[in-house]
Amino acid sequence: MPSIAIDGPSGAGKSTIARSAAAQLGFIHVDTGALYRAIGLFAHRAGISDRDEAALSAHFSEIQVELDHRGEEQAIFLNGEDVSEEIRKPEISMAASNVSALPAVRAFLLDLQREMAVKYSVIMDGRDIGTVVLPNADLKIFLTATSEDRAMRRYLELVTFGEKVRYEEVLADLKRRDKNDSERAAAPLKQADDAILLDTTGNEMEESVLLVIKTIRERGVG
Ligand code: DC
Repeated sequence: MPSIAIDGPSGAGKSTIARSAAAQLGFIHVDTGALYRAIGLFAHRAGISDRDEAALSAHFSEIQVELDHRGEEQAIFLNGEDVSEEIRKPEISMAASNVSALPAVRAFLLDLQREMAVKYSVIMDGRDIGTVVLPNADLKIFLTATSEDRAMRRYLELVTFGEKVRYEEVLADLKRRDKNDSERAAAPLKQADDAILLDTTGNEMEESVLLVIKTIRERGVG
């Protein structure tokens, strides 16, 4: 099955762009950040520190994470409960970033991600898709934008969700997560050598979608 990896920092528009490109090209969109968010949510609810690898690993047998792609959007289930909305809360973003630094968590989620790419034609977005999860992807894209641009998008998204946040807080939070995600030892955020770099700074979302679709078509994958 053809697979396309889209990696990049938080708020570069990866998920929105990947979702739209997948719908237009007939691929399944797999948002892998949702998997780490579900584990972050589990830790948060269970009162387990999101940095305690041993404590969290001891609960893996009680964690079942499933992705559902029957609707337009990916839905994610944690032990049978649809947590697609709850995982987007800011406190869960930080928990997700912390659990994603734990090698045991990354190993726990690896098979699920690879299985999706075996079963379906996927556009999979995350941080390590081109480097670790699908090193043989047919096309790898690294999407980025300035931190200010990315924070503004995240801020507008959260406000639309009804969250009461300030732009400065969102920017500081995003910079903390960028640092966390790029400096961790396990599968850090890093552009694969063979990835195409696309910078979406200043773009309307639709322009970025068109740019990604054009890139995919030019490589003959979509
Ligand atoms: O893309 P996102 O913001 O929903 O991701 C949530 C967190 O999960 C983010 O801090 C980085 C981490 N993540 C990761 O380490 N590897 C992935 N493939 C996807 C996300």
